[in-house]
Amino acid sequence: MAVGTPGLDARHAALMALDAVLDRDRSLDAAWREAKVDRLEDRDAGFARLLVLTTLRRLGSIDAVIDRFVARRPVGKNRLGVQIMRIAGADLMALDGAPHAAVDTAVRLAKRLPETRRLSGMVNAVCRRMADEGCRLFDAVDAEAVDTPAWLWERLKAAYGEPTARAIAAAHRHGAPLDLMPAKGAEAWAGRLGGMLTPARTVRLEGGAVSKLDGYDEGAWWVQDAAATLPVALLGDVKGKRVLDLCAAPGGKTMQLAAAGAEVTALDISKPRMRRMRENLLRTRTGVKVVIADALDWTPPGLFDAILLDAPCSATGTIRRHPDLPHLKSGTVLSALVPLQDALLSRAWEWLAPGGTLVYATCSLLPEEGEARIDAFLATHPEARVEPVAAGGGVEAGMVSNGALRTLPCQWPDIGGLDGFFAARLVRG
Ligand SMILES: C[S@@+](CC[C@H](N)C(=O)[O-])C[C@H]1O[C@@H](n2cnc3c(N)ncnc32)[C@H](O)[C@@H]1O
Repeated sequence: MAVGTPGLDARHAALMALDAVLDRDRSLDAAWREAKVDRLEDRDAGFARLLVLTTLRRLGSIDAVIDRFVARRPVGKNRLGVQIMRIAGADLMALDGAPHAAVDTAVRLAKRLPETRRLSGMVNAVCRRMADEGCRLFDAVDAEAVDTPAWLWERLKAAYGEPTARAIAAAHRHGAPLDLMPAKGAEAWAGRLGGMLTPARTVRLEGGAVSKLDGYDEGAWWVQDAAATLPVALLGDVKGKRVLDLCAAPGGKTMQLAAAGAEVTALDISKPRMRRMRENLLRTRTGVKVVIADALDWTPPGLFDAILLDAPCSATGTIRRHPDLPHLKSGTVLSALVPLQDALLSRAWEWLAPGGTLVYATCSLLPEEGEARIDAFLATHPEARVEPVAAGGGVEAGMVSNGALRTLPCQWPDIGGLDGFFAARLVRG
């Protein structure tokens, strides 16, 4: 590596991470590890992450500009040359980076790697043109339409209509704030941490190293998006009730239920995710019965007064934080998820005590994983009905649709939005 070339290490790591996501379908968490981003100096690591997150969020727009300058984007082994151009494009056109540094480091990187050495002339020419005329072209692209992969864009338009789909896509361009859920004393924690209290009573910060924040060590709060707190709120007062948190890891909702005084059983199939839950529970000193099992095989020791089923889903409601998701997944994931969601819901329903409430939730923007699952369930369970959700306690009137909770990332535009969530409350009779 050319010693003393600022940003070259960061860009090299960014290139490796971007390629891991786009070419090898790695999640961003895995990509950071593969690219050894953590081994960089803090500033370089932060810059590498920013470059990759921005490239993923603006990929369609960046590619539209690159396509104006090349007859055909190189593929196969030569794809790394395109990834270098994409990262430089994000730097130049979305982040307002210094043109000389962006072009120079892109060319140095291309010359450095055996796979891209031959393409350094092309990288140089394209990056120079992006520096000179890219911003004008970039700003003219229909960003919402092209930055959202086609499979998702078409579904969002069909589900919510084009204006709302555009607002959702625009929200995906920005990152998400950091929400902390205090076990108690939300106002006081907002003051101590210098954050704002959201209508869902999370403390909202712009970001920062979570483990260095006041209250982390004593487990006074945990990280949880405002929208993710609402499904538990729909269960009402759970103090002293036997509550099953089904599909519980890594445990945000488990801690919320325990803090509200419920007697919680938390079940999940994933050992590694449950390890994270145990760490969280230790930190917050929360007593919970933890079960690692496949819910489809498990038999509970007795019935529950309340059940929260936070079902596995496409997680499309969390794209603001995970811009890799729409590039890794496609609509085809639904063919495996939907039958699993139906099976989990039918099974959980059998474990509900008379007079009990079951909340079915997903962090998905796709009605196939939300509204349609409830319709399918009601069609086969005539004894069940939806108990309508009402506005209040963080739930705004615009977040209620057909008696269910439906949040979208474009809501709360003035305070940084919230994740997309669906939740419906089911009772007997
Ligand atoms: C949306 S995540 C849960 C998030 C969690 N409720 C929280 O608030 O932190 C869905 C979870 O479902 C779990 N899961 C998937 N299939 C399962 C099954 N058959 N039985 C139990 N858990 C399952 C996954 O391991 C994953 O942790």
